[in-house]
Parts: sequence; C-alpha cells; structure tokens
Amino acid sequence: MGSPGQLRYALIRPALFALEPERAHTLTLAALDLVASGSVTTPLARALIAAPQVADPVEILGLRFPNRVGLAAGLDKDARHIDGLATLGFGFLELGTVTPLAQPGNPRPRLFRLPQSAALINRFGFNNDGIEAFLAAVTASRTWRRRQFKPLGSAGTGSTPLLGINIGKNAATPIERAVDDYLIGLRRAAPVADYITVNISSPNTANLRQLQAASELTTLLAALAAERERLAAGMSRRVPLLLKVAPDLDDAQIEIIADALPRHGVDGVIATNTTLARDAVHGQRHADEAGGLSGRPVFAASNRVIRALRERLPAGFPIIGVGGIQTAADAVAKIDHGADLVQLYTGLIYRGPALVHECAEALRNRRHRTASPPDPLAS
Ligand code: FNR
Repeated sequence: MGSPGQLRYALIRPALFALEPERAHTLTLAALDLVASGSVTTPLARALIAAPQVADPVEILGLRFPNRVGLAAGLDKDARHIDGLATLGFGFLELGTVTPLAQPGNPRPRLFRLPQSAALINRFGFNNDGIEAFLAAVTASRTWRRRQFKPLGSAGTGSTPLLGINIGKNAATPIERAVDDYLIGLRRAAPVADYITVNISSPNTANLRQLQAASELTTLLAALAAERERLAAGMSRRVPLLLKVAPDLDDAQIEIIADALPRHGVDGVIATNTTLARDAVHGQRHADEAGGLSGRPVFAASNRVIRALRERLPAGFPIIGVGGIQTAADAVAKIDHGADLVQLYTGLIYRGPALVHECAEALRNRRHRTASPPDPLAS
C-alpha cells in the first residue's frame, strides 16, 4: 500500500504516460503552478499535492538546508516553476542548466520513456531562454523573494528551499572557449544563487564531457576559482561552487577529479549526471535513442562514483548523490555510499511527488538512528 499521495499519482499516471513525454512534462509543470497559485481545480493538480515538507535541517557547504532531498537539474531549465516546485517538500531546488544565450536545443522528439526500467532517455541539449531571462524568472519568484530577506549563505533559512543554479555552455561556443561561457554563468548567477553547479557532464552537448579530463579541468576550475574570489570581494559572501560529474568515469578519471576539486577550492561535487551506457536496457523500446539514460539503470553506476569519490576526497568534502532514486531506501543507500545530500528527477516521473516526502523522512529517521546515543555519564 502506498501513501495517499502515491495512490493519487498512480491514478493519474496512465493519463500522463499516454501523452508524448515532453508534452506530459509541460502539462505537469503547468498543473504544479496552479497548485502554487492556490487555484487547485484539476485532478492532475490535486494528484501533485505532496505531503508537507519534512523538517530535517542540515548544514553543508556553509548553508542550512531545510532537509536533504533536492530536485536535480533539468526539470526547470528556465526557473519558471520555482514556486510550484517549492510546494513539493524539497530542501533545495537545482535550476537550469542555463547557458549565456538562449538556444533551442535538439529537435523533438528528445525525451523517451523506458517504463520497464523506470527510466528515461533525454537529449534536450540545454534548450533554454538564456541567463538573462532565467535571472528575471528567479528574482520574480515568491520563493526567491522569501529567501532574500535572510542574509544569503547564512543559517536560519527556515523551510524555504535553497536555490542552486546549474550553468553550462552554449552549443555554438567552441569547446576551446567553454571557459568563457562558464565565467559568464558564474558572474551573472552568483548574486542570486545559494550555490552554483558547473555542469561538464551532460552527454547532449558535443565534447562537453572532455572538460572532465585533467588539463581541461584544471584550466576551467582555476578560472572559475579566481573569478569566484573576485566576486566574493564585491559581495558579502563566497558562493559555493560545485562540479557535476558523469557516471561513466573510470577509476583514473575519478582520481583526477578527486584530486582537482579541493586543490582549486571547489566546495562540493554532484554525482552523477545521466549515463551513455545501455547494457541495463538492452532490447527495450527506445533503448537505442541517443542521449542520457536516467532512472533505475543509473543507480548502481552513480553509487560507484559516489563511493569512489568519498574514498579519495578529503574527509567531510560535500557530495550530492543523484541517479536512480525511486524509493526511500534508494535515498538512504546514497547516503550510506557517502553522499551528504541527494537529488532526484526521474523518480518523480515514475513515482510522483510523494517520493520527496518519503525520502526526506527516511533520511531524517536514518540520522536519528545513527546519531550517537546520549552519554549517560555526561553531566
Ligand atoms: C536531466 N539531467 C540534467 N542534468 C543537468 O545537470 N542539467 C540538465 O539540464 C539536465 N537535464 C535533464 C533532463 C532530463 C529530462 C533528465 C531525465 C535529466 C540529469 C539529472 O539532473 C540527473 O543527474 C540524472 O537524471 C540522474 O538522476 P535521476 O533522474 O535518475 O534521479
């Protein structure tokens, strides 16, 4: 038996899955906006109402997260649905990937369901309206304005989800000039973001993943670190910088990344993005579509990267674990493998928004279970 939220979503899911995936996506976000505006009338909107936010505050990256469950990047690329998404009980929302200039992304169809594996393949290719429209949308949201009243980067943010901004490069920018695009993203997003994610792991922008290689990574991180220090001098804080990596890295590549992150003052790592591997879905309809595979098939690969990073990074270095979370137990497993926070995307499509509450509750319970018992001898 599922929770009432899960059951409501299970009733509505067949109707959503009957639609072309991108259309279902647009419709769902529109329904969510209805929830946020208070004019909840449609069955879809009612099915999207989640249980209240789980309070499980945790300090990581110098920020106070209301709980450990975040929305992964890619669902709200233009930051147009922040207030709707904020009703789902997340502790943080990662918006984007946003690029300096608007671009259409790849032609449709570019999103495919593989229901047998609770998976998706997408090749959106960073379709977005560009950083300026994005920033206007962020600052117009009620959620951001609520955050605004507290000194950014300070503790005591209450229940409002934190806002991460995930930055990328335009498809038309040559890979040798990628650094310029990331610098624009950092400069423009720093004043409004709780943290910034540098996405060099999407499989849908030609050559992007090359930036994970040693020399390219060093050049990129050194430039971003220097710019971040320059920005910090003019702002009241140093915006945390995270790197998002692929699940398809071998041990040598993981070693290079684990060495480079602390050396350049990067504050955290997000593991992982979607995979190019198809072995887990071989023979299924759409399995051969180009793009990144997400959902259950990426769970183990993402956990392997989290574990390997945890072994190689300095103690306490923040890791956000993402990839294949479909149940509360999956979220707990990510923390067991070494993550501090988790994010999800594809699980929302298959299990509905009740998954957010279930995961946040399970992580709160895990923390209480593993917290050291009070010392009976302490006075
Ligand atoms: C993504 N993901 C993604 N990641 C990113 O950094 N920038 C992006 O723009 C996108 N876009 C995107 C679109 C779609 C349709 C999907 C399914 C995914 C990757 C996402 O944030 C996450 O890292 C992976 O999907 C793995 O997590 P899940 O989906 O298995 O929970």
